[in-house]
Amino acid sequence: MGTEVRVGSLSDLLDGELTGVEVNGHRLIVARQGDEVHVARNRCPHLGFSLTRGPGGLRYGDGVVQCPWHNSRFDVFTGENLDWVTGFAGRSVPSWSRSVIALGRRPRGLDTLSATVRDGDVYVTIE
Ligand code: FES
Repeated sequence: MGTEVRVGSLSDLLDGELTGVEVNGHRLIVARQGDEVHVARNRCPHLGFSLTRGPGGLRYGDGVVQCPWHNSRFDVFTGENLDWVTGFAGRSVPSWSRSVIALGRRPRGLDTLSATVRDGDVYVTIE
């Protein structure tokens, strides 16, 4: 059983955009799609780096975030991993070197959290 925490106002989030927030010491990403929000931990499952800050910059569109470090891509709505370690800082690298960069880590999805909007405010349940 998790704890429900207020993230902020829905109106503070741009529709169709991804925003990095910190709530009670937890770094999260919040994707707004109309009146819905999807939340995951702001932690790439590859090496645990930020999904919103890094050498490739924030890359997000149509519900998909690309890690700014080694280009892994994730569906923020479901957490599903779409691509795993394809390069560095937004640039592709040859396939033979990808396994070196992956450092033996196997593809994994995002750690998603349950989120809801009530009376114009966004809440997330943190386990
Ligand atoms: S830290 Fe995200 S793909 Fe490597």
